[in-house]
Amino acid sequence: MRRILVAYAGVNGMTRSCAERLAKELKGTDVTLCDLEKEIPSISDYDVCVAGSCVRRGKLRPAAKRFLEETIAGESDCPTGVFLCCGFADRFEEYRDRLIPKAVRERAFLISNFGGTLNPAGKPFWDRLWLFFARLGVVESEIDDGEYTPTLPAMNPENIGQMAFLARTLPLVQK
Ligand SMILES: Cc1cc2nc3c(=O)[nH]c(=O)nc-3n(C[C@H](O)[C@H](O)[C@H](O)COP(=O)(O)O)c2cc1C
Repeated sequence: MRRILVAYAGVNGMTRSCAERLAKELKGTDVTLCDLEKEIPSISDYDVCVAGSCVRRGKLRPAAKRFLEETIAGESDCPTGVFLCCGFADRFEEYRDRLIPKAVRERAFLISNFGGTLNPAGKPFWDRLWLFFARLGVVESEIDDGEYTPTLPAMNPENIGQMAFLARTLPLVQK
């Protein structure tokens, strides 16, 4: 059975929810979920790796940055997909090109935006404040554009499904 590692780092639960949804879509494979904030896995135990991080203040989580730089870019034979969770979907390409190490970008089978949230509800105080103003910015700019139903970010099931499909079906490296 194909052994798939889903390793993620987030703060308020959205990245974890995306990772869990991906794991669900990988039912029938031997899937392991790993929170990089708690543990750094050894990828030699897996056939495929999918690694993800949220973006906060224009940066990856330090644990995810380390994992991509040291483990993925270093041990380069495990097919790897990467996902980001970000509140500003229109900045995804910029985050992808700036935050993901070149060595990882060149060998990833997919780099995808799994979505994100700008919903302040239930978050710690400073995050709530940040999210409140970020959300206000989105709403105001869309009203300026003449669109009165602002499109706030959410989880992106299509992109998660595409990652799951590739992780299940891509040809494996003979070890
Ligand atoms: C303090 C803070 C800073 C953030 N900075 C960014 C950012 O620079 N760019 C962006 O697109 N989203 C940003 N976001 C939105 C997060 O990427 C989004 O809420 C994401 O879903 C968080 O994932 P998590 O729940 O796993 O922490 C920020 C959110 C917070 C609370």
